[in-house]
Amino acid sequence: MPDPVEFRVGLKKKKRGVTAVTTQAHELDVVDVSKAFVGTRALLPTSLSVKTGEFVTILGPSGCGKSTLLRIITGITEPSGGRVLLRGKDITHLPPERRDVAIVFQSYALFPHMSVADNILFGLKMKRVPKEERKRRFAQVVAICGLENLVTRSPRQLSGGQQQRVALARALVVQPALLLLDEPLSNLDAKLRETLREELMALHRRTGSTTLYVTHDQSEAMSMSDRIIVMKDGQVVESGAPRSLYMRPRQRFTALFFGHTNIVPVKVDGSQARLPWGGSVALVEKSSGCGEISLRPECLTLAADATGPGVITAATFMGADVHYTVRIGDRLLRARHGSTAPFAEGTRVSVTVDTPVSLLAAELPGLTGATTEAQ
Ligand SMILES: Nc1ncnc2c1ncn2[C@@H]1O[C@H](COP(=O)(O)OP(=O)(O)OP(=O)(O)O)[C@@H](O)[C@H]1O
Ligand SMILES: [Mg+2]
Repeated sequence: MPDPVEFRVGLKKKKRGVTAVTTQAHELDVVDVSKAFVGTRALLPTSLSVKTGEFVTILGPSGCGKSTLLRIITGITEPSGGRVLLRGKDITHLPPERRDVAIVFQSYALFPHMSVADNILFGLKMKRVPKEERKRRFAQVVAICGLENLVTRSPRQLSGGQQQRVALARALVVQPALLLLDEPLSNLDAKLRETLREELMALHRRTGSTTLYVTHDQSEAMSMSDRIIVMKDGQVVESGAPRSLYMRPRQRFTALFFGHTNIVPVKVDGSQARLPWGGSVALVEKSSGCGEISLRPECLTLAADATGPGVITAATFMGADVHYTVRIGDRLLRARHGSTAPFAEGTRVSVTVDTPVSLLAAELPGLTGATTEAQ
């Protein structure tokens, strides 16, 4: 296996005359990029940036414009407006082959009539990379992607996971400044997805490649990314570190997209939000007036209390956890606790929250690009 640092240094030396990726400059800037198809506005003006070496995931429901955005960045689709910059250089109107960008599609899109080796080498031949250099890079990516025993096969003699690794190798071998991955795991079964997810992350650590990953799977996004950009209806809703977006979303949409939560109305006084059933929760920023917060089920602390405001109305044993429904007045809350000392249904409980939260914004429009940084 090639030395990962050597691989990375080789990559940068050849192309840019620098010795290592240490800068946190922007590799990619998408500035007000929009796309209208006949009868559809696939993308409203959208802006985002990816730093050098960062692994950023675009997360959003089907049809929200994720692939359209990636296709615009690669140059396969022409934007209706806006600009795409790679390392500060405007590439908006460059043809795909002249962009330092590689993409792996959901469908792999391997050439069926070519061997694995020829699939991997194709891009280098197109770019007229000299033979010795081709051989060197080929050996590197074949080792990195674990394809040593498969190079003479044709794609139809490979499993889905193996084909996916070939598609990755084909993208990596051209040593792109930016690697784009459009739902590369979605055709695979759950077990293989998990394995390849780990392989992809290990690969990212080894090559240090700047990566923009697209998925509609929130657990995939949370487990893989340095940063997540949430999209909905052709626009960026919010972006931030996985834990921040999960625990302290600023948008209702983000709160609900990342799994179960309780949306709770609060009265705000400075950095405290008063809960409707009494008690309060800390806010990460000061505010005033009325608002809403998102409380994850695992953030509610339950304690048996004969004078508490809540009653356990349902308890479902899930193995490590018990999932509870707690009724407070006419409000039903979801809570989750470890299963070692479970509460019985009918138990009266107090409900407190120890984790600081953010106020949710009142509405989605106008908050495009709002950022929730890691705390
Ligand atoms: N060539 C096209 N012509 C017309 N409409 C298109 C075209 N490509 C995409 N669209 C529309 O643009 C919108 C965004 O599509 P896009 O493929 O970017 O979504 P996505 O977020 O990648 O969805 P998925 O998760 O299902 O892949 C959709 O409404 C889609 O129907
Ligand atoms: Mg798509």
